[in-house]
Parts: sequence; structure tokens; C-alpha cells
Amino acid sequence: MEVIIRPDADAAAETALEFVRRLYEKKADPVLGLATGKTPLKLYARLRASGLDFSGTHFFNLDELVGLPDGDPKSFRRFLRDNLLDGLGIQEDRVRLLRGDAPDLEREASDYESAIKEAGGIDLQILGLGRNGHIGFNEPGSSLGSRTRPKTLDRETLADYGPGTPRFSITMGIGTILEARLLLMIATGEGKAEAVRRIAEGPLTSETPGSALQLHPRAHLVVDEAAASRLARADYWRWVWDNKWRVGQ
Ligand code: F6R
Repeated sequence: MEVIIRPDADAAAETALEFVRRLYEKKADPVLGLATGKTPLKLYARLRASGLDFSGTHFFNLDELVGLPDGDPKSFRRFLRDNLLDGLGIQEDRVRLLRGDAPDLEREASDYESAIKEAGGIDLQILGLGRNGHIGFNEPGSSLGSRTRPKTLDRETLADYGPGTPRFSITMGIGTILEARLLLMIATGEGKAEAVRRIAEGPLTSETPGSALQLHPRAHLVVDEAAASRLARADYWRWVWDNKWRVGQ
């Protein structure tokens, strides 16, 4: 895993955008995996203004809350439409977002896995990080080999997502996420500092699902100074960034 420490959340979003731009330089029709949540909003605003051509892009998303119909303001589909997809010039038949209101969630999960395979696999998966170390809605204790499936949310996650959040989700598994060719995690703010320390410097363990990034050959963790504040080896990562070739080189 490479940790990239940027001065603040805007600079972190700029660096994340640079990764996406590099991907489009190599591939006009990539497969992107999206995350919901507050963290990627600055990146999504930049993608909307980027001038990149998204018409060939296949989109998938990490997770969805169970039971919410299309258009529900708390649904992740709505969030991604409002904050990224609408106005991006996408082709609807290339967008496959998880449905938390599917009548058979197990079936939805296996169909989703098949759809990712049919699209050729995910080129770049955007990830956020829960304060408890979750990725997608793979809460602590999730199998590191897990596939897309329904999952019960942790109490801490429910509190973070606010009143009225359904207790159940459907989420890509950790095994599913690890198959993406490039992982791009963004974590910003002091509230994420301990989780960042655990995934970057702690042991690989299902108790910290994000530590699974340690297994991936191309995992990038872009953080701001606040989120990096508990890293023992922060100086090393700054040194790496100052001295190495830039993104994609
Ligand atoms: C959302 C997701 C979650 C979030 C995480 C952080 O699709 O997969 O793992 O990335 O809960 O959320 P924020 O960014 O709101 O702090």
C-alpha cells in the first residue's frame, strides 16, 4: 500500500483526480467502482468539472442500504446520481448500481458479481474508510475473502450515517474489492486518523477490514495531514512522495 499525504482535503481530492485522469489516458472505456459518503464528494465535484469523456465508462458502486426504493433521499443510488452521475454524459446501459430494494438480495448479489465479470472487472475502485476500519459495508469481522452479500451495519456505522438509516446493507465483499485492478482510498479529517493508522500500520486482520488493502499490489491511500496524524511512518511517506515518480509513471 502506498500512503500519499496531502496538506488538506482539497489537495487529497486533486491527487485522487490525477489517478482517474491517468486511467482515462490509457483507457477510454474503463470500469469504475464508486463509493458513497462524504469523503469522495470533493473528488466527484472535480470529476464533473474535469471535461473527461465518461460516455464509455461502466459504473458500479460499493454498497447500498436495504429496503430503500429508487429516489429515496437516503439511498446510495440517489446520492450517486445527485453528486456525480447526473450531468456526466454517461450511457445508462453502462451503469449498474446495487439495488437494496431487490426482492431477493442473495440473487441481486450474485447477479452483481456476474455483471462485474461481464464488464471485464473493475479498473479503479474508489473507497472511503469507516471510523471502525470498514470498507464498503464490510464491518469488523467480515471475511477477507467475502463476496457481495447482505450485511448488518455496526452500531457505530448507524450512528455515523444518522437517524433513519436502515440496519442492513448489501455490499461488495472484501474479496470482490480486492479484485479491482487499482484501489484508490481517500480518508480525510482527524476522525479517520486512528482507522488510517490501523489499516496502514496495524496487522492484517478481519477486525480492521481496510487492512485488506495490504494484500493488494496497487492500493493507494490518499490522506490529508489530519488523517495522517497518527501514522508513525508519516515522514517516510512524505519522503516517498517527494522523491518518487508521480502517479501512473
Ligand atoms: C460508502 C462506503 C463506506 C464509506 C465510509 C466512510 O459507499 O462504502 O465504507 O466510505 O463509511 O464514509 P464517509 O466518507 O461519509 O466518512
